[in-house]
Amino acid sequence: MNEPAWQIPGYLDSRDGRLIMDGVDLVALAAARQTPLYVYSAKRIVETARSLRQAFASRHRSATICYASKALSAIKVLRLIRDEGLSIEVNSAGELFRAKLAGFAPGQIISNGVSKSVEDLRAALSPPIKAINVDSLFELSRIIVVARDLKARANIALRVVPEVDSSTSPGNRTGSEGTKFGIRQSELPVALGMIRSAGDAVLAAGLHGHIGSQITSTAPFELAATRLAELFRGIQTALGYRLEHINIGGGFPLMYMRGAKHSPQGDIFCPRIDFDDIAKSVMPILLERLGPDVEVIVEPGRRLVGDSAVMLSAVENTKERSDGCWLYLDAGYNLLIESYTYKWYYHALTANKLSEPTRDFRLVGPLCDNGDAFFDVDGEQTVERLVAAAPAFAEQREVLESLLIRLPKMRQLAASTVPGDIIAFLDAGAYTLDQFTANNGRLRPEVGMIGTAGLYEIIRRRDTQTDLLFNEVV
Ligand SMILES: Cc1ncc(COP(=O)(O)O)c(C=O)c1O
Repeated sequence: MNEPAWQIPGYLDSRDGRLIMDGVDLVALAAARQTPLYVYSAKRIVETARSLRQAFASRHRSATICYASKALSAIKVLRLIRDEGLSIEVNSAGELFRAKLAGFAPGQIISNGVSKSVEDLRAALSPPIKAINVDSLFELSRIIVVARDLKARANIALRVVPEVDSSTSPGNRTGSEGTKFGIRQSELPVALGMIRSAGDAVLAAGLHGHIGSQITSTAPFELAATRLAELFRGIQTALGYRLEHINIGGGFPLMYMRGAKHSPQGDIFCPRIDFDDIAKSVMPILLERLGPDVEVIVEPGRRLVGDSAVMLSAVENTKERSDGCWLYLDAGYNLLIESYTYKWYYHALTANKLSEPTRDFRLVGPLCDNGDAFFDVDGEQTVERLVAAAPAFAEQREVLESLLIRLPKMRQLAASTVPGDIIAFLDAGAYTLDQFTANNGRLRPEVGMIGTAGLYEIIRRRDTQTDLLFNEVV
């Protein structure tokens, strides 16, 4: 019998119809620890970190992986990543605090951020980190002021707009001028003038560009690398000194719909490339144009931790509606927030009934708003409203649905799924924990990790009701 496409042999499997991670029965774990429950695999993170290093270091003698910690900044995970010899990218003084707590040295830390505060900059200069990626001319002037005030010299990398678009979801595009990120290429002469006249406060260490998250083909990476390399040489000539590094950002895609060829949003959830393809296509471009001595930095977040976790949630309730059976979970979008903001797809399974045939269900959360659903409420209602407003649209319903509905309407779960069963959302490792909210007085869940020796360890305790009042003046 063929293995189901969601399985990752040796990591995520089924045994006796139950979901297993690194040999640990997740259904038993959910019963012992309570749901909702997040479970990470240390082994998966370590293995991916090693493969990422191998992919880039084998193609360039001076390649550095800076893990983008916004994807997941839990301290125990950062320590694992540090122990694998990776560097780190942070986005605020808060993430910098976490990186230092996890043991990263200033020379291993890079700071991004579309609008850094004086506080962010003071932290990044005390002591100076490897590079502050400068997002605007205004920010450059602010860095100069803060550095002089601290009598420090900031290592900076200009973040330019490479003018490279991609087909990822709109909220994840960052490579062109229509987005809020980076310095326009036409602004570079002014930036270079400012750097030249503030040599006491700033040193240009590199050049940075990041085109977005979940980029599903190599072409945008190649175009960005080519453009950045050209700009890099121009900047060196204009400044009259050598830059140390070129940073091509992150955005390496993760397979969220394993086995699928098309997802409701094109190929976003079933990319045809992986990071090895990116390394294979981009590193020769940089080697050829800049030689082997210019350090190449990449900043993957999602791809490193995304497939290392599963969120387990119990079915609490059920209703029959005209379109079928609806299941009400004990976890809503407050624990998987991009399923709401970007209509992000996380594959769902009935974790305790994996051997059963499946049927369609509607899947919703427990929060008190209609958007708390694991389908696209907005998209579905927009199609209905268009058809009601102009009946001629009914003939184009299929086209409308394919453009406007960004998540599958139904989920295929074990046919007998009922309250008490456990639903697992796969690939829930990136952009989840750091965005938990306690809406409607719901306690944020326990997060655990199966260590490399196979033992379960809590890395974040479940909230108590007192935690709901944290920092509140009562
Ligand atoms: C500057 C920068 N680098 C790296 C990343 C990480 O992206 P991803 O998680 O898609 O690899 C981001 C996130 O969008 C980013 O803004």
